[in-house]
Amino acid sequence: MARKPIIAGNWKMNNTIAETKALIEDLKPLVKDAKCDVVICTPYTDLATAVELTKGSNIKVGAENVHWAEKGAFTGEISAKMLVELGVEYVIIGHSERRQYFGETDATVNARTKAALQAGLKPIICVGETLEQREKNRTKSVVRKQINGAFDGIDADELKNIVVAYEPVWAIGTGKTATSEQAEETIKNIRSMVAKLYGRKLANKLRIQYGGSMNPKNVSELMAQPNIDGGLIGGASLKAVDFSQVVNY
Ligand code: PGA
Repeated sequence: MARKPIIAGNWKMNNTIAETKALIEDLKPLVKDAKCDVVICTPYTDLATAVELTKGSNIKVGAENVHWAEKGAFTGEISAKMLVELGVEYVIIGHSERRQYFGETDATVNARTKAALQAGLKPIICVGETLEQREKNRTKSVVRKQINGAFDGIDADELKNIVVAYEPVWAIGTGKTATSEQAEETIKNIRSMVAKLYGRKLANKLRIQYGGSMNPKNVSELMAQPNIDGGLIGGASLKAVDFSQVVNY
């Protein structure tokens, strides 16, 4: 049941096209011998450049969101088909910043996931509790609701194309990483929740990342945990050296 680790950068709203070119050119030689899958998720405006510049390399490209409809009157949105046509392979869905600032719900996460899968994209589904929820001992119930919501109506044979990212909201961009025990505990719980939905065998194949201030210093300890299969990296993905050190942990 060896799961290949996957380290993905989440650039968020950073990097112009010029900056994208420079970062990718710096990154390519630094990660070329990576033993894990390497993904960079970029703003929509950088995707074409990222796909072009990573051709023939081991870096895969992802978007940071996708709409659930095939097309239509959804000003400002981007469809799965548009991403596929660009050569994009992954897409982040339900990041906590989307949930917090843009009204993303478990239902919209589910709808986006279905649209992504149908188009052949690989969703990276984000879940995680806020500090208040953790302090009230609600981490497990909050994450269970997010997992059950995200996977509602999704076929078992799609599981192989899905990555889950556990990102405690209080650890994102704060420099405050979950301890490896905290991360492992919840990620193990997530695996059990998925096992309840799809059976243990498939759950054991699902790749689950940790995200939240993951960096060159803490990556090894987090990756040493038996259930942690990678990371979703924000801040540390914006510098080639830092990101490569996480990738080559
Ligand atoms: P961070 O962001 O690494 O800057 O904490 C992680 C994320 O939001 O995916």
